[in-house]
Amino acid sequence: MNSLTFPILRLLADGQFHSGEDIARQFSVSRATVWNAIQQVEALGLQVFSIRGKGYRLPEPMQLLEREKIESYLQGTGVTLQLFEQIDSTNSRLMKLAAEGAAHGVCLATEIQTDGRGRRGRNWFSHPGGGLAFSLLWRFDCGASGLSGLSLAVGIGLMRALQELGAKGVALKWPNDVLHDHKKLAGILIELQGDVDGPSAAVIGVGLNLNIPDVMKQSIGQPVTDLARALPKLPDRNLILGFLLRHMAVVLREFSQHGFAQLQPEWTSHHAYQQQEVRMLMPDGSEVRGKAAGVANDGALLLDIGSEVQRFLSGEVSLRAA
Ligand code: BTN
Repeated sequence: MNSLTFPILRLLADGQFHSGEDIARQFSVSRATVWNAIQQVEALGLQVFSIRGKGYRLPEPMQLLEREKIESYLQGTGVTLQLFEQIDSTNSRLMKLAAEGAAHGVCLATEIQTDGRGRRGRNWFSHPGGGLAFSLLWRFDCGASGLSGLSLAVGIGLMRALQELGAKGVALKWPNDVLHDHKKLAGILIELQGDVDGPSAAVIGVGLNLNIPDVMKQSIGQPVTDLARALPKLPDRNLILGFLLRHMAVVLREFSQHGFAQLQPEWTSHHAYQQQEVRMLMPDGSEVRGKAAGVANDGALLLDIGSEVQRFLSGEVSLRAA
């Protein structure tokens, strides 16, 4: 991406035609430079229509993140926003900032994430304008061992926000995926730093699909979906981010004060696989089958295997429908 790519994308975001000549004039560059920048916009995965005599336009308007709009939802939350056009990974960047002493409540959100990371070393792909990618820094007095259940608590925050937005059929999958129609809608990546005895800091990364092209859905190695499927009309992207952060801040405060125990019934009520037969895939490739019997006060998944109830706490274990 060169320095013109994003300004041109901002111009095209209205979904209207803009002639190469007008764009060149506006940015005091040549038409060839504009053409190059348009190629860069396309390299981001966006389609740009180019019609002789009319100019360039996006297939449909694109809603970009706007600081003031998002901040209007954040009053009283203690969350402070830093907005980026492009960044490698909001989690990676915020981990660095956290180590350098960044304040509790700092949130990095970006339009484009070039090296988004998922759990267990996987990549997280975002489509420009088609999702949300952000990370929130939350500091705790306790050490990392006191944070079990944190990722489940964050899932509750996302659920509360999505429900307030009117999303139907959304559920949680242990430990921390948000599903719609049994397909992945959002993922959470939590990275910790600090002393064993505390204090500690959590960088809480969230990726939420809002409206992603079908070809991208098909190219990801698991069933994925987007919020556009869960709502009759997709709300303003800024409002969605504001709601998510507001609910996350509330639930994180509850978690800080009372731990996960108090949130456990709410989490269980949202579990997509509650009382269903599931398989727990272990890091060594083996699997354990049983019935998902809720989560414990520390966030461990409880699996009823008939003879006993087994606990699974490690984030390295994944749950699948049987
Ligand atoms: C997963 O389900 O595997 C977790 C996905 C988390 C993705 C988000 S996007 C914002 C933040 N920055 C990252 O690099 N990853 C998280």
